[in-house]
Parts: sequence; C-alpha cells; structure tokens
Amino acid sequence: MKNNLNRRDFIRATSVAGTGLALHLPTVGRAASDVAKPALLGGPKAHPGGYPGWPVFDQTEDQALLGTLRSGHWFRGNGRAVTTFETEFARLTGAQHCLATSSGTAALTAALGALDIGPGDEVIIPPYTFVATYNVVTLHHALPIFVDTDRESFQIDASKIDAAITKETKAILPVHIGGSPTDLDRISEVANARQLPVVEDACQAHLAEWRGRKVGTLGRAGCFSFQASKNLTSGEGGAVLTNDEDFANRCYNFHYQGRGRPVNSANSADTESRGTNLRLSEFQASLLMAQMTRVVEQTNRRTKNANHLTKLLTEIPGITPARLYEGVTRSAYHLYMFRYDPERFAGLSRGKFLAAMNAEGVPCSGGYGELNKDAYVSSLARNKHFLKIYGEQRMQQWLEQNRNCPQNEKVCAEAVWLSQNQLLGPREDMEQIADAMRKIQKHAGELAKR
Ligand SMILES: Cc1ncc(COP(=O)(O)O)c(C=O)c1O
Repeated sequence: MKNNLNRRDFIRATSVAGTGLALHLPTVGRAASDVAKPALLGGPKAHPGGYPGWPVFDQTEDQALLGTLRSGHWFRGNGRAVTTFETEFARLTGAQHCLATSSGTAALTAALGALDIGPGDEVIIPPYTFVATYNVVTLHHALPIFVDTDRESFQIDASKIDAAITKETKAILPVHIGGSPTDLDRISEVANARQLPVVEDACQAHLAEWRGRKVGTLGRAGCFSFQASKNLTSGEGGAVLTNDEDFANRCYNFHYQGRGRPVNSANSADTESRGTNLRLSEFQASLLMAQMTRVVEQTNRRTKNANHLTKLLTEIPGITPARLYEGVTRSAYHLYMFRYDPERFAGLSRGKFLAAMNAEGVPCSGGYGELNKDAYVSSLARNKHFLKIYGEQRMQQWLEQNRNCPQNEKVCAEAVWLSQNQLLGPREDMEQIADAMRKIQKHAGELAKR
C-alpha cells in the first residue's frame, strides 16, 4: 500500500507512553528572534511536550479483565460480557440490535454475508478509505465499484452514486471517513429510490451523529471497529448495528458458522446458512465495557477541541479543514483532516510541510494513498477467480472505470491528518498547532529551499 504513513502507526506515533496529558515546557536559553522561527530553522518547538497517550486505561480495565478471567466464562453466553456489551452499545447508539464481532472487518464481512453478497454482484465503495472496505467486498467475490470523493468533505461524493449503479449493484457501502458523517440524506435518497441496502462503514465513527441520530443506525447495517487506534478500543474487535431483526439474526448466523441462536443452554442450534467464526471474546468485551465508561466524555472533549482548532485554522490561508455536511450534528474526529495548499506557503511541498510540523512536535501525516490505483487493487483484474467469474473483458473495463476518480487524486495529494488523541489534551494544544503552521508559513520560502 502507498499510504504515506499507515493510520494505525500514525496514531501510535502521536501517542506518548502512558495516559498523562501533554507537558508544556518553557523555552529557555533562546534569543527572542529565534522564538518565532520554525524548529527546523533553529527555533523552539511549537509543541514540545507530546500528546495524551492512547489507549487510556486504569484499574477499571484491570478489574474488568480479572473479573472475566476469574469467572472461568471465556466464551459468549447470556448475561456474560459479550452480550452485555451488545446491549449497552445498542443503548448508547440508539440501535435496536447489536452484534459484537472479532474486528471491524469481521463486522463488514458479516453484514455483506447476511445480505448474501456473492460472485457477480457489485458493491459501491469510496476510494478514500482503509483497504478493509475494499477487501470485504472482494472476499465475497463481488466487484468493488469506486465512486469519486467529494474534495471538500473527503467523503464519498453522494451525487455520483446513482450513475455508478447497475443491475448487478447489490449494496452501497459508504464510509464515514475520519469519523465525520458522509452525506446520509443523499445516500438514503438514492438507496431508497433504487431499493438498495446501505451498509455504513462506521469503523472510524463512534458516536458521530447525523441530524441527532448516531451513525451506524441509519442504514441497513452500521459496522464499527474497536481496533487499537480507534476511539473505542479493545485492541481488536467490532460490531454490527441494525434496526432490522431478521437482518440481525442473519448477521448472527454468519458470524457463528451459520448457526442459529441457541434457544437455551441445553439446546445446541442447527446450522442454517453459510458462515464462519467472527465472534468477539469475553475478554475483549469486558475491556470494551470499561472503555465505555469514558467514551462519551472523550468524544465531547474531541468535539470541543476540534471546533476550536477549526476556528483557528480557517484563518490561515492555504489550510482548509474538511467540510462537515449540514446534517452533521457530531463528528467523531477519529482524524482531524484538512487540505494543504503549497501555493499559499511559498511553494513549500506537502512533504516538507509535514516534516516541518513534525519537527514542531505536532505529528501530522499525509493520509491515504490512491486506493483505486493501488497495485494491489489493480491486480484483481488478473486474479484467476475473478477472471473466471467476470471474464477478461469485464475485468479490463472494471480496471479502467475504477481509475477514474480525479477528485480523490487531488485529496490524496493535499490531505493532512492529525490523530484523535491530539484532540484529547488542553485547549492550548490547539493553539500550538495553529502557531506551528503560522511559523512555517512565515518562513515557508526558507524551508522550501532546504
Ligand atoms: C474505514 C475502515 N473500515 C474498516 C476497518 C477495519 O477494521 P478492523 O481493523 O477492526 O478490522 C477500519 C479499521 O482500520 C477502517 O478504518
């Protein structure tokens, strides 16, 4: 993959060990003229202290894990950690049903399995996403169809979905990238008109809201990840939300070797359909219950800091925070994403801007590469199974069609990301991020020559 820096490594790199807040050290022994200089030109770092570590944990997690260990119940069952988590996560999000899974990928796999997506089918996805969104479609031997990105929001361009629908399209799989809701009004409108199910990839969007409703509850399914970098985490883990009972049961079957729910402990269920093992463990669920004691407060803190940061960055020419759609009542800010315009920074390339920001003590990444043009994705056109299912002509056509995402190309070239844990510290952290950019902008000509 051509990602500038893998998102998970990026979040790890921005965390200081432990769970303390950022240290702000005074600048000592420097001439006043140096203070306004970028760190790369000999000035002090704008943010010298590091950011809050991730994950956050204390004795609550110790007790949760020990409780599960000592119970001797390490497998899902009524009244145990996994089923309790399912009830609580459904309550927190307002969903009618929740199924815990072993990962976000597993949640998406179960949702597509429950929709009986298979060979010959097409599923619409955005190119600006983590590769898992693509992989879950091809693992079902369906064709992923990329729809271009809305450059302003970084989300799938909902106005282009309808044109990509064919008689083979069986689902729309939008992603709330960075934790910011995609345009669910327009997507629902197209999906309803075409009678297609929407599977929301909400893997980065815990507690984000569209018109006051939690994302993941507006489509047929909403899929979440609890992988280590995520805003709610158990190292690995996932969940499917739905308001459709029959669909919830089909997801359950798919994640449990195709077996139905046991009627009681003495009754082992029959195998009913296609499936595999995608279950979450009791240990992970107990960790999630402990993490859930903080998730609302952490989400509120990110929102406050992100709103302040947006106000500051909007005043810096050449820095454009990702647009939130009018229907967004909350972004989860798993990533804080903005566009960088080198023209307003004396031609300083994005790579050099990132290096300068990192030198200021503000870790930044360039985000995703162009997934739709990735060598791995293109190699699907030569995959023997796909050639057998779709034929040479269709696979060549698919290859050409998928390369055409011009707005995504721009976004991949101009995006800059901060990570969620950088929004968990004090308000001054936001001011220092803006200070770093102002310093870099003022000395951009000099930095460009280095
Ligand atoms: C947008 C998106 N989809 C899917 C996934 C897959 O989740 P997991 O890593 O839990 O399998 C991720 C996780 O990184 C993601 O960011």
